[in-house]
Amino acid sequence: MRTKIIDALKRTDFGADINIKGWVRTRRGNKNISFIALNDGSTIHNIQVVAESTDFSEEFLKPITTGACISVTGKLVESLGKGQSVEIHAETIEIYGTADPETYPLQKKGHSLEFLREIAHLRPRTNTFGAVLRMRHHMAMAIHTFFHERGFVYFHSPIITGSDCEGAGNMFVVTALDLNNIPKNDNGKVNFSEDFFGKQTNLTVSGQLEGELAALALGEIYTFGPTFRAENSNTPRHLAEFWMIEPEMAFYEIEDNMQLAQDFVQYCVRWALDKCADDIQFLNDMFDKELIERLKFVVENDFQRLTYTEGVKILEEAVAKGVKFEYPIGWGMDLQSEHERYLVEKHFKKPVILIDYPKEIKSFYMKLNEDGKTVRAMDVLFPKIGEIIGGSQREEDYTKLKKRAQEMGVPEKDIWWYLDTRRFGTAPHSGFGLGFERLMLFVTGMTNIRDVIPFPRTPNNAEF
Ligand code: 4AD
Ligand code: MG
Repeated sequence: MRTKIIDALKRTDFGADINIKGWVRTRRGNKNISFIALNDGSTIHNIQVVAESTDFSEEFLKPITTGACISVTGKLVESLGKGQSVEIHAETIEIYGTADPETYPLQKKGHSLEFLREIAHLRPRTNTFGAVLRMRHHMAMAIHTFFHERGFVYFHSPIITGSDCEGAGNMFVVTALDLNNIPKNDNGKVNFSEDFFGKQTNLTVSGQLEGELAALALGEIYTFGPTFRAENSNTPRHLAEFWMIEPEMAFYEIEDNMQLAQDFVQYCVRWALDKCADDIQFLNDMFDKELIERLKFVVENDFQRLTYTEGVKILEEAVAKGVKFEYPIGWGMDLQSEHERYLVEKHFKKPVILIDYPKEIKSFYMKLNEDGKTVRAMDVLFPKIGEIIGGSQREEDYTKLKKRAQEMGVPEKDIWWYLDTRRFGTAPHSGFGLGFERLMLFVTGMTNIRDVIPFPRTPNNAEF
């Protein structure tokens, strides 16, 4: 029976028979002995296979090169080599698949992350992407466990919708119309009544609106699914397809929302430190010497809470003192990533939660404050990342919500069902959205969001 390498490395029953299977990272040695470093994805660590020339001919071993897949049966032995405790003394080797060194793109030498993006179908076989992908799994487990432990219901919001939750208009249309022969109305516009759903539909930009419907029945829910934005922003922090976690809670005010966001992110980061120690250590040594320190800091310290107005004041004072930003800053303007990072990295030196943003720069569904100018929005800002979470207390008043939707140009016919929740048994409630890949950037220390999702979708890129 096959033993996974992660388990084999922990064993001490030396002399036992063992079978392992995996992909060859390297093979070195001389004509008497070969050392094969084997990895099966279960851990960042390889196991060393020792093959002696008395058991295997040079001709047999020749095709066992980097990338080949083999099954090794032999004896577990204590390793004398530095940095490894066990190795396998091979008795039989079966070659499942060879990888011609002339054409196999992953060779022993380190490859740039840019190059690896071009071979995203093979990059999971590198140490870096093995670590990132295992951590992605662990973070997903952390998220489900966090909410499950607190009695939240995992709610499945639809991927295809007829509404634009964020009102930003950057949606991918979903259609079954013949694009070479599009039916038109008298006014020359596309006649979506002939389309599959009898109306215009798009890929969801957020599951929030449907999540709110669920929260106003089940109390506390969360969604966790793919989200799509056709924004043409070619940055290291934006994807056209990303995953979002959106908790939505009845009877939560903005303070409760802030506390949940902090508890949630800290829980996930702690999980990473506890359960992904080897992978984090590798990423720390390889890419970011301050990674572990930064993760520990976030777990141990409260996030700084302040209002948008206070944040802008700090930024204006910084500008007055000579700090240069690319984009202008002043009350009413949206914060750019450089501003967010100044507050987090330079001023407070810790994660920041900003609340009470001007209503003009936020979505229609956010609860209006008494001042009539700001809404109960909440952005969580992180070192190296900028915005990691966006959320708010929701407007629960039917008349106010309807007015905000009108002002922001959200058609009532698209959200009548959402407005209904405020007509029937409305309640104060709040929620937020965490970008899963932004969290992944933070816990892995990677700097480009394309390197924390298996197959990134960005402008002009949907290969694989
Ligand atoms: O701030 P956003 O747009 O908020 C919402 O969608 C709300 N409906 C969430 C809610 O209140 N339920 O997006 C939330 C988070 C951002 O903070 C960011 O982490 C991530 O989603 N995000 C993206 N991540 C990767 N690529 C993109 N293009 C992203 N756009 C947003
Ligand atoms: Mg946002």
